[in-house]
Amino acid sequence: MEAQRRYGKVTDDLIALLIEIVGGGNVLTGEERQDYSRDEAPKLKPVLPEVVVKPEDTGSVARIMKLANEKNIPVTPRGGGTGLAGGAVPIYGGIVLSLEKMNRILEIDKDNFVATVEPGVVLADFFQAVEEQGLYYPIYPGETSATIGGNAATNAGGMRAVKYGVTRHFVLGLEAVLPTGDIVPAGGKFVKCSTGYELTQLLIGSEGTLAVITKIILRLIPPPGKREIIFVPFNSLHDAIKSVPAILKQRILPVGIEFMERDVIDMVEQHTGKEIPLHDYDAFLMIIVEADSEDEVHHIAGQIGEICLSHGAVDVFIPGSERAKRNLLEAREQFYNAVRYFGITDLVDVVVPRSRIAEFVEKTKGIAAEYGIPLIAYGHAGDGNVHLHPMSRGRDESEARVKELLEKIYEVGVSLGGTISGEHGLGFTKKGYLHLAADKSKIDLMKRIKRAFDPNNILNPGKVLDLE
Ligand code: LAC
Ligand code: ZN
Repeated sequence: MEAQRRYGKVTDDLIALLIEIVGGGNVLTGEERQDYSRDEAPKLKPVLPEVVVKPEDTGSVARIMKLANEKNIPVTPRGGGTGLAGGAVPIYGGIVLSLEKMNRILEIDKDNFVATVEPGVVLADFFQAVEEQGLYYPIYPGETSATIGGNAATNAGGMRAVKYGVTRHFVLGLEAVLPTGDIVPAGGKFVKCSTGYELTQLLIGSEGTLAVITKIILRLIPPPGKREIIFVPFNSLHDAIKSVPAILKQRILPVGIEFMERDVIDMVEQHTGKEIPLHDYDAFLMIIVEADSEDEVHHIAGQIGEICLSHGAVDVFIPGSERAKRNLLEAREQFYNAVRYFGITDLVDVVVPRSRIAEFVEKTKGIAAEYGIPLIAYGHAGDGNVHLHPMSRGRDESEARVKELLEKIYEVGVSLGGTISGEHGLGFTKKGYLHLAADKSKIDLMKRIKRAFDPNNILNPGKVLDLE
């Protein structure tokens, strides 16, 4: 491969220099590198990094980057390794820069409702720390072993986006290290900013291809008083999805509206061994609502239940107890693991305007049926972000056929006014589809931005887009 040939090799001398920067205990060259050779993307072959380096502060990141830039070594930044598009897989070998030891919550500033964290802070730890201070960080991608740095790098979304948006809506500022070793602060502890180019938002979602994020300033809000889940079975996926605009048109703003087919429910029950209420119906909505008081949350839940019943729902289940709520949410969080266990060939993350979801799912199911490939659907109906899995049914589908099907699925998504990835990123596995969603002038501009940040193309090369 052209790009592979032009990178330098990690030599013993380089390893000695890395050890000088971070200490021997933070440089891995043995078997332990296996853990850094993959992420959670389906069907992606692991690639072993030549070395894994675990800096503990920004100064070390700067020195590592400068060194790698001088020696022309590719650097793949890595958070929790929970990404779904191969963004953290070091496809050209080189250095994996694991931010796992930069996991300090530097400050929770209650006066300004702001937290400042290092990128390796694990989401679950952050939720707990913020809650202990009586505050709330509402972005919930579902995978709580992810890191905040990884969430920022992919602009992670999740299950509360209808009300709160996605990661980028809660990031006020960053500190980042360029390949030259320069440290660039962007944004700050303020809500407004019209001071030049918005670098914070440019770096969010750039998947480690422009700079290494070393600090993140996050907006916090007061916590909701109460949360409730409404689980609604329907006789068809069509009815379920069609109820979503009806709920939103009533000016009820749930935190999230998830949809799922019966097949997914079956798989998650088998995978976890736990039964899901009302599991015999064809499709479901799981609606999450928050409000200040118990009365208010019940009132909203009741209203939503009524709307669903008038749009074809067969029943409405409101768990009530904290345990029952937790069970439902935990089941939802297991969807990806469950479907993966049953043999997926890929994972689609298309987002369309939410009024077009039903059309998107119906069209793509029709196309998949022509290919004879079962397509499992679930996702974030309230914000238009649909997950589709072409299933392999125990036999390996030919890669070319699946790719052809995926291309058609992406084309349908784009033709309905959507785009390829709503929340997982392009990483390695989806970069080949970017041209379906972005025209040449946009891709050329993205390449010029990449070159401005990283002229030697050492930062996470081969991700998001190819320069050659
Ligand atoms: C989910 C992941 C796959 O929504 O994004 O479960
Ligand atoms: Zn999702």
